[in-house]
Amino acid sequence: MSLQSIEIADGGNAVHLKFDSGSDARFHAMWLRDNSPDPTTRDPGNGQRLITLNEIPRETVVSNAALNGDNLDVTFAPEARTLSYPMAFLHTHAYDNRPVRAAGWLNDDLETWNSDLNDSVPDAPFADLAAGGEGLRDWLSAVRRYGFAKTSAGPVENGALLDLVACFGYVRETNYGKWFEVRAEVNPTNLAFTGLGLQAHTDNPYRDPVPTLQVLYCLENSAEGGDSQVVDGFAAALRLRDENPEGFALLARYCAPFEFKGAAGVRLVARKPMIELAPDGELVGIRFNNRSAAPIVDVPYDDMDGYYKAYRDLAEIVDDPSMAVSFKLSPGDSFIVDNTRVMHARKGYSGEGTRWLQGCYADKDGLLSTLSGLEATL
Ligand code: FE2
Repeated sequence: MSLQSIEIADGGNAVHLKFDSGSDARFHAMWLRDNSPDPTTRDPGNGQRLITLNEIPRETVVSNAALNGDNLDVTFAPEARTLSYPMAFLHTHAYDNRPVRAAGWLNDDLETWNSDLNDSVPDAPFADLAAGGEGLRDWLSAVRRYGFAKTSAGPVENGALLDLVACFGYVRETNYGKWFEVRAEVNPTNLAFTGLGLQAHTDNPYRDPVPTLQVLYCLENSAEGGDSQVVDGFAAALRLRDENPEGFALLARYCAPFEFKGAAGVRLVARKPMIELAPDGELVGIRFNNRSAAPIVDVPYDDMDGYYKAYRDLAEIVDDPSMAVSFKLSPGDSFIVDNTRVMHARKGYSGEGTRWLQGCYADKDGLLSTLSGLEATL
């Protein structure tokens, strides 16, 4: 990475670099000082920062900046220290001239989908995942990209889903236990434990933080029906944004309360938007679950009509068959969903035969960490 010019700008408050590629970027003195890679600022072993912001003088400015081989040497006043920055680091971390993006933008790692994905459902044999390496990397990468993936031909054993989670991370234990049974029950505590069809939903929106992954693992499935479906909640939200932009904004602006009190001693409540945007507009989460939605009270009277219209519009998009990917799990098959994005549904099934799934929760940070590690080493 070579440079056309280096200028000290804004009276020492910034350095302005012009790259040979034609791009340019300004870096603030405080940003540069805080992000120095030198070993007294950042631990070379674990990469953690060794100083607090308050140890950097508030009046820090750049007094000199010069190219030194592949590094930019920057001298700071009043510290009178010269610190060195690899040009590749500065190019990678340039923050100047970032595009302003519309609310609902997605991380580049993600790809939205609809029923067209029925022809190429991400799927891998359980044994490939347990073996680690490239098979696991590719499957985890699909989970990151599409927010779900299937596995097949795993062990048909009680608790086998824990072995799947152990391939990439850690189970999130809840009041339902390390894992829970999903099959028809007498006097069920939750509608999941009946043969009723279930509208596509995200799980446990009444938890804060919500479980970010769910695994559903099939041990028996001889019942008529009971197919599994998944719907990309991000695709649904973006379709709502296109069809009803005011409605999209309302579902993002106001919180909905979610609640579960179906078991003795348990009353879980959370207050979160159905469409969650980061402060800069990135679409980061969906919560959609009619069964656990409590009365909505945090929407002003004048916005409630629009809010309910948006909620209905989103529900109709979610129920649109053109949005869904469907599959029937055989014993030993399972699927994982990013529970902040992809909704899962179940078609109703009859009392004939049996349908026995086990489910558990886990978290996406561990999965993404494992994926990053595999990507860095393979
Ligand atoms: Fe569920």
